[in-house]
Amino acid sequence: MGEGPLVLGIETSCDETGVGVVRGEVLLADAVASSVESHARYGGVVPEVAARAHLEAMVPTMHRALDESGVALDDVDAIAVTVGPGLAGALLVGVAAGKAYAFAAGKPLYGVNHLAAHVAVDVVEHGTLPAPCVALLVSGGHTHLLHVREVAGGIEELGSTLDDAAGEAFDKVGRLLGLQFPGGPHLDVAARAGNPAAIAFPRGLTGPRDAPYDFSFSGLKTAVGRWVAACERAGHEVPVADVAASFQEAVADVLTAKAVRACRDVGVADLILAGGVAANSRVHALARERCDGAGIRLRVPRPRLCTDNGAMIAALGARMVTTGVPPAGLGVRTDPGLPVTGMAPAGR
Ligand code: KG4
Ligand code: ZN
Repeated sequence: MGEGPLVLGIETSCDETGVGVVRGEVLLADAVASSVESHARYGGVVPEVAARAHLEAMVPTMHRALDESGVALDDVDAIAVTVGPGLAGALLVGVAAGKAYAFAAGKPLYGVNHLAAHVAVDVVEHGTLPAPCVALLVSGGHTHLLHVREVAGGIEELGSTLDDAAGEAFDKVGRLLGLQFPGGPHLDVAARAGNPAAIAFPRGLTGPRDAPYDFSFSGLKTAVGRWVAACERAGHEVPVADVAASFQEAVADVLTAKAVRACRDVGVADLILAGGVAANSRVHALARERCDGAGIRLRVPRPRLCTDNGAMIAALGARMVTTGVPPAGLGVRTDPGLPVTGMAPAGR
């Protein structure tokens, strides 16, 4: 069964309602309900639709997680819930549920940073995080390079995106190519049939005078848009697979080069890839190749744990309990703009 605190985690920051159960570093349940299909026709997540879907999915997802883990609410040591960053209305549903369950069962309530939780979830796959390590966090709304001394409160930001997040770039280019929403996973599949060297798309912020750990993807997105428009103007059929593969290569190249450089500069030998874009097959493969070449140990959670889920919230909650972070309590508030280094805002 494993050692350590038994924690139930609740995630509702975007379009996935997740409830996970973790004991220490052992995953016992990971129930996820997604409202992604309700957003597909709008080409992006609609906040009010997401919040309503969380409300409907919360109780059934909770029951699924408890059934899957064979744990009763009375048995858990703590309840952890995402307080930010994320969509304001969506976060409120999860936090209200967390408060209700914590109050009803008389359990301490921990407020969890969604971004740090993306990194923390790797413990259920590969054991205790090496400390310190570097984490490349690439999701739909965020792109950060982090120096992690302690995932529960000891994270330093090395760099981040100046414009679009990596996942956002995948989704926008996916839409441009007529792929289904969200573009990321569909583009990953489309790229498999393409040539990554077909089109030389720009690599943002990779010049010698550019900030070494910051990212920029909006120029790349514009370049893809222009290339596709020129192709259409000339009356050619857009080679979707080649464009997808070449775009994906540009993103993977920049992400992995900067991550390996950060490990070298900071002097750490362990890199964690986290967030939805870490599920990308080329990002993963190129990171593996470059880490092997540089003598860096690479850890990437399995794709299901890279995208949003409740297990990651339970995993960071368990780490917070273990390291003695005090619970936020029933007064905890949400913070849609919580920075990657931030802790739960205290309640009154
Ligand atoms: O971490 P996540 O599930 O949610 C946020 O916290 O944002 O990340 C979602 C993002 C979306 O932009 C999605 O398109 C992208 O991750 N994504 C991928 C893949 N799977 C998910 N991007 C590229 N390739 C994938 N296989
Ligand atoms: Zn996320």
